Amino acid sequence: MSATSDWSSSQYLKFEAERTRPSRDLLAQVPLEFPETIVDLGCGPGNSTAVIAARYPDSRITGMDSSPDMIKKAKATLPNIEFTLGDLHTYPPKEPTDLFFTNAVFQWVPYADRIPIIKRLIQTQSSGGVFALQVPDNANEPSHAGMRIAALEGPWAKTLSGRRTALDPFQTPQELYDEIKPLCSSLDIWHTNYEHVLDDHWAVVEWVKGTGLRPFVDPLSEVEKEGFLKAYLERIKKAYPAQYDGKVLLRYPRLFMVAVRA
Ligand SMILES: C[S@@+](CC[C@H](N)C(=O)[O-])C[C@H]1O[C@@H](n2cnc3c(N)ncnc32)[C@H](O)[C@@H]1O
Repeated sequence: MSATSDWSSSQYLKFEAERTRPSRDLLAQVPLEFPETIVDLGCGPGNSTAVIAARYPDSRITGMDSSPDMIKKAKATLPNIEFTLGDLHTYPPKEPTDLFFTNAVFQWVPYADRIPIIKRLIQTQSSGGVFALQVPDNANEPSHAGMRIAALEGPWAKTLSGRRTALDPFQTPQELYDEIKPLCSSLDIWHTNYEHVLDDHWAVVEWVKGTGLRPFVDPLSEVEKEGFLKAYLERIKKAYPAQYDGKVLLRYPRLFMVAVRA
């Protein structure tokens, strides 16, 4: 992520309702009545943290994130919650944590680092502690395949060549099970496919501009960026036919995991 600029909380929050819904769906499966301590790992602008605080108003909740812009926005939105700047690779929880919650974050962690970080954090938990994770599982969706193909075709290809642009696909449920289950008394893994109703094809571009498109466009000059976005938009138009009213359905598969510490 070093070649990528900081996150933009305002771009990310353009689709706040859609982006926050998986947090609610994940939290609904967390089997804890009154967790004392909760950490929202990769809390972003605090949208997932607000969902947690609504269900657990009496818990001690901390949000952590590596983006200064996201932490600033989270602090401004939820002044009564503690937010800290940190990186998952080195993050040490200050105290035993009953619930680690992480929504739409671990896909940004390099493939080989994900399982070791998740295991390290679960190992700090007491029996009955929960690690709840959701990640987009859309590497092969046209929205993401389209970025990779557009990156190869055009004058911007040279600038992007050799850079880490596309995110690594996420581990399969089978891989997660074999790695995580030995530490747990129960492990619940599932997929949900959302069909987000977006206003038009450009809205798909706006959606990914806040997330997966960032590593592709950040290294480009203004002229290259404009050309790349135009080429990408054309791919999106072909892959997602408009509905009768002009709207576009963005299919969005997501992977969920709720692990209970043995
Ligand atoms: C897509 S946003 C998710 C925000 C929020 N959790 C939500 O539910 O919408 C991903 C967040 O993960 C953070 N992030 C990515 N890699 C990280 C790392 N290694 N350590 C801490 N935060 C990280 C980013 O800064 C960003 O705010």
